[in-house]
Amino acid sequence: MRRRVRKAIFPVGGLGTRFLPATKAMPKEMLPVVDKPLIQYAVEEARAAGIEELIFVTGRGKSAIEDHFDHSFELQEALAARGKKDELGLVEAIVPKPGRIAYTRQIEPLGLGHAVWCARSLVGDEPFAVLLADDLVLADRPCLAQMMDVYAETGGNLVAVMDVPKEHTNRYGILDVVSDDGTLAEAKGLVEKPKPEVAPSTLSIIGRYILHPEVFEQLDKQEKGAGGEIQLTDGMARTIGRIPFHGLRFKGTRFDCGSKAGFLEANVAFALSRADLKGDAQDILARYGKR
Ligand code: UTP
Repeated sequence: MRRRVRKAIFPVGGLGTRFLPATKAMPKEMLPVVDKPLIQYAVEEARAAGIEELIFVTGRGKSAIEDHFDHSFELQEALAARGKKDELGLVEAIVPKPGRIAYTRQIEPLGLGHAVWCARSLVGDEPFAVLLADDLVLADRPCLAQMMDVYAETGGNLVAVMDVPKEHTNRYGILDVVSDDGTLAEAKGLVEKPKPEVAPSTLSIIGRYILHPEVFEQLDKQEKGAGGEIQLTDGMARTIGRIPFHGLRFKGTRFDCGSKAGFLEANVAFALSRADLKGDAQDILARYGKR
């Protein structure tokens, strides 16, 4: 029997330099797409995939995230006193059950691999998910739930992947593919941010992972990779050969909300996907499209 994936890590320790000045005093994960912070989309996606325990790896200046997932007594009382039941329900639903949310600090932003490694004792010896909130996915069935379906068959390490233009391989972890049926690819190697001329494929990892705990042992080595950072890609790559590694071409659209253009596009796409905003969004686009 495959062990159930019950825990998810949310690394939120990055500096968000591409989004300054917005991220000077506020974490980029609190940027709202339409009316919901990025981190809440990620947490809802995790819950929809059956995740029970949320682990945040934070850094300095990230306390707004802790406040967001906590009770807000004044606000809740005010909403109750004014009879705003819908809004009250919305605010109360955000708060996880007691003991189901944990925070640890990364102390220094040494890279994504380092952030994930910081959660090792909170995860223990069981498979776990990692979600990067700045990668937002619009999909009928949430991306992590699609991955759980496939993980039931593959086990091992499973990441969400998408094909990118050849000239963009230097922005992603790239799979060295051994077999590929068009939906699921198996990898014999991984390279972090390769130049297009040396990239083994154009199949790129996006910020959704289901990982075997042996990845922690590899990250224990604290080896620095591309950009001088401790890379999650390298930790995963070193398990290949012992642990199967698959990439799933998920159904849906991914937006890079760590970049300004990706964030803007996500706002447009999410507004158009909502019945309450679609008409307004279409009118606005029609007006500005002509300029
Ligand atoms: P990014 O590469 O987007 O880096 O990290 P960043 O620092 O957040 O943003 P920029 O590039 O300066 O604008 C990818 C993901 O890894 C997390 C980030 O929070 C983000 O979700 N991360 C990155 C950490 O948690 N810790 C790190 O040391 C680095």
